[in-house]
Amino acid sequence: MQKIQTDILIVGSGLAGLSLSKYLSEINPNLLILLLSKTSIDECNTYYAQGGIAVVHDFLKDSYKQHVEDTLKAGKGLCDEKVVQHVITEAPKRLNELLQWGVELDKNSQGGLDLGLEGGHSQNRIVHHKDKTGYEIETKLIPLIEKLPNVTIKTSFFATDLIIENGHCLGLKGFDEKGEPTIIEAKATVLATGGSGQVFGVTSNPFVSTGDGVAMAIRSNVALQNMKYIQFHPTAMFEPQKSQAFLITEAIRGYGAHILNSNGERFLFEVHKNGELATRDVVSKAISEQMKKENGKNVWLDLRHLPIEDFKNKFPKVFNYCSQQGFDITQDLIPIAPAAHYQCGGIIVDEKGATDKLQLFAIGECSYTGLHGANRLASNSLLEAIVYSHDLADYLTSTVFTTQLKSNENAVLIYKNIHHDEVLQFRNQLQWFMKYESIYGEKQAIIKTYQLVSELLKRFRMKYKKYDSHPFLCETYNLIQTAEIILKESLPVSYKRNKISKKTKL
Ligand code: FAD
Ligand code: SIN
Repeated sequence: MQKIQTDILIVGSGLAGLSLSKYLSEINPNLLILLLSKTSIDECNTYYAQGGIAVVHDFLKDSYKQHVEDTLKAGKGLCDEKVVQHVITEAPKRLNELLQWGVELDKNSQGGLDLGLEGGHSQNRIVHHKDKTGYEIETKLIPLIEKLPNVTIKTSFFATDLIIENGHCLGLKGFDEKGEPTIIEAKATVLATGGSGQVFGVTSNPFVSTGDGVAMAIRSNVALQNMKYIQFHPTAMFEPQKSQAFLITEAIRGYGAHILNSNGERFLFEVHKNGELATRDVVSKAISEQMKKENGKNVWLDLRHLPIEDFKNKFPKVFNYCSQQGFDITQDLIPIAPAAHYQCGGIIVDEKGATDKLQLFAIGECSYTGLHGANRLASNSLLEAIVYSHDLADYLTSTVFTTQLKSNENAVLIYKNIHHDEVLQFRNQLQWFMKYESIYGEKQAIIKTYQLVSELLKRFRMKYKKYDSHPFLCETYNLIQTAEIILKESLPVSYKRNKISKKTKL
């Protein structure tokens, strides 16, 4: 088993991991940083981000106060107001750094930043690079990080578990790109592992978003919160054969797109005064109910009335994808349905990104900071990732040199071949169980899914005693464990109470 030592270990190369590497290197270019990604360096949620980053920029029309209020309202009373204030007021500084690092954002006709509108925002405040903001971020930051002499990048490295001893995180275990079992010892370990959309049958998230950071945290008793608040994006293209659904950015609804039922009627104003621009929880729920009423699998996005040349220029990714799928957006309605999109909860961290284990930190989508509450306001997540990576960099550079590297001789990992198709069956079953209704549906549907997933977890554990002997096996376990925690939190209180009192009687 090989062993690697570093000062700071960052697991994840989305905006959270990349920007942390950059900030750390700017403050102290002598720090040894090891940055891991599970597949290629750019495959992550960040790469697919479309709409942009929410930042108060036009101080004549907008204010921090309005952005704070919009965030709190979307979060349904569960946001931490202090965190919301902090993230929103830091945003302009973090935006400037992104611009300095070479990220290009669209300009309006006066040469200022073009500000888009998305659901739940009372003002236009989304800065963006057409409809491929995440692609722009990744393709500009990766070459910068690759040039940093103090940063080593390891792609196709699968982290399996944290190494925790007496409440301290000493690093982690995993398999390198050749399948070689590896121990990495670090003075600080930072999880920036992204979301868990792949737990669900239909998601906007890529295949790498399997809740690995959360599952590692579960296995190491690191505290989590609000895992049940999985945000469904209302407008993913409905393509039944695909599990990574193509997202149609909410910015297009901000630009004027309508959502129609099968009779060609707009129905969202019946549920909310903001219609298509209500927050995502409201729009996804209304669409799900509409589909149920119609016994249909999708509703429709209407782009036909929008100015086509301007649309093509502003939203080239969506335009091209629709065309490739055979849709002429000036004539055709686009079939859409909600897709699992964002994990609002996660690993609990404090204001600097510290978890409840010493030397272990979490930033980005895998973390729970208190910003999003029960429902994230659109385009607040890239912002959260960069604000927390900035603040954590400050903290780590001032503390890491007082920390000693430590080994844990009990940390072992053995690679074994697997029957891929047998493991895949567990994954397929899980994704078949996990739907919108499984967490937001009738009580009975939630209970049923919980029972099915608990049973699946039991069967998995019986069949595979060593879940960590192969990346695909471990990833599948991560998916099932993450699903179980989401469902457990979603169970009706009466069911939980009943179960607990039965256990007590036994
Ligand atoms: P990610 O970008 O997902 O990166 C995770 C990294 O962790 C990857 O490099 C992965 O390889 C690595 N990793 C995971 N597990 C392991 C493991 N076991 N071992 C090693 N490495 C591992 N938010 C906005 O604010 N604005 C938007 O416009 C927007 N649009 C979106 C559009 C889509 C289609 C999607 C899916 C999301 C969108 N979001 C948007 C959400 C936002 O993109 C994410 O929340 C954010 O990018 C998360 O960044 P991150 O760095 O935390 O994680
Ligand atoms: C979108 O572009 O609709 C996604 C924005 C987000 O998830 O914040």
